Order: sequence, then C-alpha cells, then structure tokens
Amino acid sequence: MNTAANAAVRDRLRIAIQKSGRLSEPARALLSSSGLSWRESRDRLFCYGESLPVDLLLVRDDDIPGLIADGVCDLGVVGRNVLLEHAGERAGVGASVPFREWRSLGFGGCKLSIAVPEGWDWRGAAQLAGKRIATTYPNQLRAWLHEQQIAADVVVLNGSVEIAPRLGQADAICDLVSSGATLAANQLKPVQVILHSEAVLVGPTQPFDDVRAELADLLLRRMDGVLRIRDSKLLLFQAARDALPHVLQLLPDAEPPTMCAVDGTETLALQTLCHGAMTWQRLEDLKRAGAHGLMVVPVERMLA
Ligand code: PRP
Ligand code: ZN
Repeated sequence: MNTAANAAVRDRLRIAIQKSGRLSEPARALLSSSGLSWRESRDRLFCYGESLPVDLLLVRDDDIPGLIADGVCDLGVVGRNVLLEHAGERAGVGASVPFREWRSLGFGGCKLSIAVPEGWDWRGAAQLAGKRIATTYPNQLRAWLHEQQIAADVVVLNGSVEIAPRLGQADAICDLVSSGATLAANQLKPVQVILHSEAVLVGPTQPFDDVRAELADLLLRRMDGVLRIRDSKLLLFQAARDALPHVLQLLPDAEPPTMCAVDGTETLALQTLCHGAMTWQRLEDLKRAGAHGLMVVPVERMLA
C-alpha cells in the first residue's frame, strides 16, 4: 500500500487494529457494537466497511501510531503503552507528535513492569543500578530510570524479551504483563510497575477537514454510547413510598430513577439505569430494604 495513493482517498475512514493478539477481538467487538460491519479481504489484512464507509486495517499493534502519523490510517485501537512509546521516540528526536489518545476504552488492561529472575531477593528499585534491563519499551524505561535516578543499561530488543535473562543478554526485563503467564513460564517475577495501560482509541492531533470529520464524530458518539452502557442494566422494581430512601441508598451507581405511582396505592413503580454489576446478592439486599418485583433488563443501545 502506498501513502501517496492513500492520501487521495478521503471519503472513507480507515481504522487500524491489531491483527492478532490481546486487543484484536475486543477491538472488533467494540466497533461492531458501534454498528460497523465489514467484508474481509482474502488476505485478511483489510476489511471493507459495508454499513458505513469505515474500513479496518489489520496490522501489528506497534505499527499503529506510525500508520496514523503517516496518514495511512485515520484512527487506531492500541495499548496506551505502545502510544506513549512512539510519542517518546518522536519527542526524543525532536519530531512533533501528530497523534493523541482520543478515548480510553476500558479493556486490555495490563502493566508495563520490571521483572527479575524468580531467585532474586528483591528489596527495591535501587538494586537495578548497574544492571542490564532488556525491553521493547526503551523510551518509557529510560524515563522511569531517570526519574528514579537509577543508572542501568537499557538493552533494546524487538521481541521475545522474556528469554533475555536466560540467554544472558540481560539481568532483568521491562515488559507488558497481563495475566502474568509469560513471566511465570520464564521463571521471572514482576517487581515494579512503571505504567498502567489499557486499550485506547488513537487519532490525529489535528481535526479532520473533510467527510472523515463527520464519520469520526458519528463513530465516537456511538462508541461513547457502547462504553457507557457496557456494564449497565435497567433496573425495574416497585417499593412502598416510605421504603424508598432505604432502597435508593443501595443504588449509589444508579441514575436518578423515573417513578410513577401504582394507581390507588402507596406503592411506586421505578426504573433506573444502574452502572455497576447487578448481582443476586444486590437484588436480595434491595428486596430486604423494601423493593419487590425486581427485574434486571439488559441495555442494548444508548444515544445520549
Ligand atoms: C505482551 C508481552 C508478553 C505478553 C504478556 O505482548 O510482550 O508477551 O503480552 O501477557 P501475559 O502476562 O498474559 O502472559 P503483546 O500483547 O503486546 O504482544 P506483542 O508484544 O507480540 O505485540
Ligand atoms: Zn506489540
């Protein structure tokens, strides 16, 4: 694909997502919940948008900030760690950073952490002085070491960081930890978090000045709707008027309820959108506080 040819096509929005990996499924799910659908190309690298002129490019996550910087893609879904690393790299050579985080997406949570061999008796970051630390995130690691005033050697690798200590390339590593399985499989233990990361929507620093502006707006509104109701449920119930203060105390994560009187009684029928999980335990607590006829209804779409 060549950039000059792409630059001419400005009537469709192009979103880059991870081809395979932790973020790829949830990213697709978020976009399809936002009403997008695609026809996949034979090589499975490009998905042509059918419901809206919004196409997907399936790439390596580390390439996403660069693709946006070069104008090949308009938006992307990537870990904050990747975004910050690329921003740091550009800033380091005095280049401007033409992309920024548009939204945090609430999935793909992980930690960029220092990990050391299991046998280390870890007593604190000062122990890293004079050690070699392998990473694919040199900018963030160097910034952190600088902040901690620790002089250590940063060994920059392109991948498979977790085997560096066993190969004698490094004493410790700095890598992404999600479940911790990769570290455990390599007899390493995480000892120090340097960044909490999650998936973010990344877009250009400058607003679009053509039809992509409207497409991006539409997509953002839908995405915000999806993100807002992710764990939300509509709760329907009845309660006697005098039990209501008690019941509402148990719903701190709910929107102000809509209520109406049940004809000819002191009973109220209520509905409210709850943002937290509505477990059996919570329903039983609500019932004890005086609610009855409780019903939890899934919310499919929301447009504020
Ligand atoms: C990260 C990291 C580890 C793995 C850790 O890779 O490099 O390999 O995830 O996950 P775990 O704690 O659940 O075992 P990432 O998803 O960024 O893929 P990539 O490095 O291949 O881009
Ligand atoms: Zn990666």
